[in-house]
Amino acid sequence: MKYYTSINDIDNIKTWIEEAKALKENPLNYSELGKDKTIGLLFFNSSLRTRLSTQKAALNLGMNPIVMNVSGDAWGLEFEDGTVMNGNTAEHIKEAAAVVSQYCDVIAVRAFPTLTDKAKDESEQVMKAFMEHASVPIVNMESATGHPLQGLTDALTISEHAKKTKPKVVLSWAPHIKALPHAVANSFTQAMQKMDVEFVIANPEGYNLSPEITGDTPIYHNQEEAFKDADFVYTKNWSSYEDYGKVVNTDPNWMITKDKIGDAKFMHCLPVRRNVVVEDAVLDSDSSIVIEQANNRTYAAQLVLKKILESK
Ligand code: CP
Repeated sequence: MKYYTSINDIDNIKTWIEEAKALKENPLNYSELGKDKTIGLLFFNSSLRTRLSTQKAALNLGMNPIVMNVSGDAWGLEFEDGTVMNGNTAEHIKEAAAVVSQYCDVIAVRAFPTLTDKAKDESEQVMKAFMEHASVPIVNMESATGHPLQGLTDALTISEHAKKTKPKVVLSWAPHIKALPHAVANSFTQAMQKMDVEFVIANPEGYNLSPEITGDTPIYHNQEEAFKDADFVYTKNWSSYEDYGKVVNTDPNWMITKDKIGDAKFMHCLPVRRNVVVEDAVLDSDSSIVIEQANNRTYAAQLVLKKILESK
């Protein structure tokens, strides 16, 4: 495997989940696989979980991780072809990606969307530029439209906690004070579409995700109706896709409460704003599996890196 940039790069999610579970049981079983290999983690945006869990995953495989906050510490990067670079950008991605490829055996990139330019975001300009101009494998640590390491983690977590053959999983929008990307919701949707689950989405009018992503998945605009008989409630805010990047509704009635979810397990990719997205009573209860979910980030990343190392 040379690239892990989308949930679509998973050929068989059942097998991947079983492999991730095996890595979780024995995380150091492949500690020689990445010996003398370096992974460069390039962050254009903030992170806690992705940064630490991907480093941890690399270390478990014997790799040497090096990390850079690109936006703060590197030269301003130019991604357009043929630009007269007399503005704020000092280095072209063509040189940058080629140079980093000489230092690293794998490059992982986090680059969020603009949320103002839909076409640019959907073109995945940054991720595609690294794929084109780097000579080593590329891993997506959350791009403009997807967060496939998170989606794989979420599938693993649901598989571990499922008490029935075909659990009901609801992805619910919840309010937030800022305009947030669609990446987590997109990758979660794609992951659930590959799983043997009853999957539905709940969001207010004006918040439907891209129809390219949701496909045939049922969408409810009534949260209570969607939550009926749910085994898992996965919550995330995202900005409007139709009115691209806008916050068109902050209705607090969509906040997740204990009363609403009943016995369902609560999931969120984190970070989460307490008592805006979800009330304390949920996060502080046994219903919440967000900490175990975050722990699984390591094993999802480790599986992806293992597959890349084994293909090299
Ligand atoms: N869920 C997630 O990607 O967390 P970070 O933004 O902290 O990496």
